[in-house]
Amino acid sequence: MMFTTNPGPSLELTEEHMMLRDAVREFAQREIAPVAAEFDESGEFPVENVRKMGEMGLMGIEIPEEYGGAGMDTIAYVLAVIEIAKADAAHSTIVSVNNSLVNYGLLKFGTEAQKQEFLVPLASGEKVGAYSLTEPMSGSDAATMRSRAVLNEAGTHYIINGRKSWVTSGPVADTVLLFTMTAPEKGHRGITAFIIDADRPGFIRGKKEPKLGIRASATSELVFEDYACPVENVLGQPGEGFKIAMTLLDAGRIGIASQAVGIAEAAYQASLAYARQREAFGRPIGGFQMIQQKLADMKTRLEASRLLTLNAALAKMRYLNGGPRYTTEASMAKLFASETAMFITHQAVQIHGGMGYSKEMPVERYFRDAKITEIYEGTSEIQRVVIARNELGLR
Ligand code: CAA
Repeated sequence: MMFTTNPGPSLELTEEHMMLRDAVREFAQREIAPVAAEFDESGEFPVENVRKMGEMGLMGIEIPEEYGGAGMDTIAYVLAVIEIAKADAAHSTIVSVNNSLVNYGLLKFGTEAQKQEFLVPLASGEKVGAYSLTEPMSGSDAATMRSRAVLNEAGTHYIINGRKSWVTSGPVADTVLLFTMTAPEKGHRGITAFIIDADRPGFIRGKKEPKLGIRASATSELVFEDYACPVENVLGQPGEGFKIAMTLLDAGRIGIASQAVGIAEAAYQASLAYARQREAFGRPIGGFQMIQQKLADMKTRLEASRLLTLNAALAKMRYLNGGPRYTTEASMAKLFASETAMFITHQAVQIHGGMGYSKEMPVERYFRDAKITEIYEGTSEIQRVVIARNELGLR
C-alpha cells in the first residue's frame, strides 16, 4: 500500500533554523544576559538592545522582506524567542508582542497603505509596537470593555475615549493596535480595531505598572482623550475587532509558550550545573535521589513543553497555508509551557537553597519572571476554557 499523505512542515530543524538559533543564542548571551539583572532592577526599557534586535531582523521574524521583516517561519520565531528568553524574559516579551500581536495583525488584516506606513517601520525595528485590549475592568472577559470610539459627523474620524491597562511596551510604543467599542449594543460584534499613532493629540501614556517580574518590558496604562483616529486607520472592518483580537492572541500565545520554554530552560540548566558542583554531606547534591527526581521531572516537562510549542508553530504554518485554525494547539502549548516554567523555576530555587533566594544569582529572577506566563495573553484558566470548549464543540 502506498502512502500519499503530504507530511507538511516537519519538527526537524533545517540548516537555516539551526543557524538562526545559534546566532540568536550567541547574541543573547553576549548582549542581553550580562545586563538582564541591571534592567530588572531599574525597570528601564532596553532601547539599545531592542535596536540591535531590530538590526538582526528579530522584530519582524515572520514578516516578508518586502515589508521590512526577516521572511522566516513560525519555527524560526519560536527558536528565537526561546533563546532571547533564556537570556532575559523581559526582552522576549517585547519581541513576542511586536512580532505576533502587532506585526502579524498588520500583515494579516492591514491594507497595503497601512502595511507601508505602519508595518515596515515596526518589522524593521525602527519603531516599537503595542497591543491594547485589556482595561481596568475587563481582562479575561475581554468583550466587556468600556472605552468607546464614535464616528464624527463628517465620517472622517473616530473620536476615541477611555482607559486601557497592562499594555506591554505602552511607555515607549510608537504604534498601538487598539480594540475599542464602536457599537456597544452589539456586544463583542461592536468592537473595532484601530491603528493608533502615538504622536497624535489625545494619546496619553498613563501610570507605569510596578511589576513582580519582566520588569524591563515596561507596561503601562494608556489614556485616550478625544483622540481623533482617521477612518483609514481602522484595521479590518468595523465590528471585526474581537475576532481580530482573538486571531492575534492565537499567534501571541505561541510566543508566550516559547518565552516560558526559554525561562524554564535557563532555570533547568542552572540547576543541573549547581547539582554537579555544590557539595553536601560529602558529595555533589546531584548524587541524592531527591535532587535527581526533581531534575528528571524538570527535564521531562521542559521537553514536553518544547514539543507542544513547536507543534503549535507547525499548526500555525499549516493555517497560513490554508489549513484549519490552531487555537487549541496554541492554548495547549501556552498552558503547559507556562505551568512548566512555574514548576521548573520553583524547583530551581529549591535546588539552589539559600543561593536560589539571593539576588546574586539569576534563579530568583527566573522564578519571578515565570509567573506572568500563567497570566498574560489569557490566564491558565482561560486556556483551559478555550481547549475544553473547542474539544466539546461548545462556544
Ligand atoms: N480566532 C478567531 N475568532 C475567534 C477565536 C479565535 N481564536 N475565539 C473566538 N472567536 C470568535 C468566535 O468565533 C465568536 O465569533 P461570532 O462573532 O461569530 O460569535 C466570537 O469570537 C466570540 O467568541 P466567544 O463567544 O467564544 O467569546 P467569549 O466572550 O466567550 O470569550 C474567551 C472567549 C476565550 C474567554 C476570550 O474572551 C479570551 O480569550 N479572553 C482572554 C483575553 C486575553 O487573552 N487577554 C490578554 C490581552 S493581551 C495582554 O495580555 C497584554 C499584553 O500586552 C501582552
